[in-house]
Amino acid sequence: MDRSALVRLDDVPATAAPVRMDLYGPIHKALRAFMFDTVARLGRCDAGDPAELADTVARARGLLHIMRGHLTHENGFVHPAIEARRPGGSAITGEDHEEHERAIAALDGALDLLEAIDDARRPATLHRTYLRFARFVAENLEHMEVEETHNTALLHAAYDDAELMDIHDRLLASIPPAELMTDLRWIVIGVSHPERVGILTDMRAKAPPPAFAAVIDMCRDVLSPNDWGKLANALGLPAGAGLVEVW
Ligand SMILES: [Fe+2]
Repeated sequence: MDRSALVRLDDVPATAAPVRMDLYGPIHKALRAFMFDTVARLGRCDAGDPAELADTVARARGLLHIMRGHLTHENGFVHPAIEARRPGGSAITGEDHEEHERAIAALDGALDLLEAIDDARRPATLHRTYLRFARFVAENLEHMEVEETHNTALLHAAYDDAELMDIHDRLLASIPPAELMTDLRWIVIGVSHPERVGILTDMRAKAPPPAFAAVIDMCRDVLSPNDWGKLANALGLPAGAGLVEVW
C-alpha cells in the first residue's frame, strides 16, 4: 500500500498547543524500551552459559507475549475506533499487524530452535536469533511511528479527549492483571518524569488502593534513585521504606 500520503512529523515544527490525549504514546515508549532491552540482552548473551541463556530466552518470550497482547488491544479497541469514524483509516497498520503476528510466531520458533540446538551450533544460532529480533524491532519502530503520527491525527480529528480517555480505560480494563503489570513496568521505565506523574495520578484516582500500592512498589524497584525520589516527591509519598503503610 502507498504510504506517501501518511502524516509524518518530520517537517512540522513543534507547537505550544495543549497536549491531546495520546492513546499510543506511553505504551509505545514502553514497547521500545522492552524491545531495546531484549535485543541488547540477546546481543551480549553468552551461549555457553545455560542459566544466562535461559534467562535471556525467557525475557525474549516475555517480550513476544507482550507484543502479541498489544496487537490484540489495538485490533480490539483502537482500530475499530478509527474505522467507526474514518472508514479505511486503519488499513495500513492493520496490514502491518497481520505481518507482525506471523513475525512473532516465527520468533517464538527461533527461540525453540535456540533451546533445542546442540552446543556446537548454539553460538551461531543465538547470533541469528539476535539479528531476527533486531529486524523485528526495526519493523516495529517504523510501524509505531505511523500509528503515533497518521493514526493519532485521525483519532484527534474524529474524537475529543474525553472519548479517547473512555477508549483508553476500556482497553486497560480488558488486559489481564499479570500482563498489565508487565506493561506498566515498561511504561514506568520508558516514559519521562512528567508523563510518569500524570499516569500514576490518573491511576491513583481510578485503581483500587492495593493495586496502586503494588504499582508504586514496582516503581521503587525499577526506577533510578533520582527518578524514584522525584516521583515520590511529586505524588507526596515517603521516598524511603514502609511505603505500603501509607495506604
Ligand atoms: Fe500497532
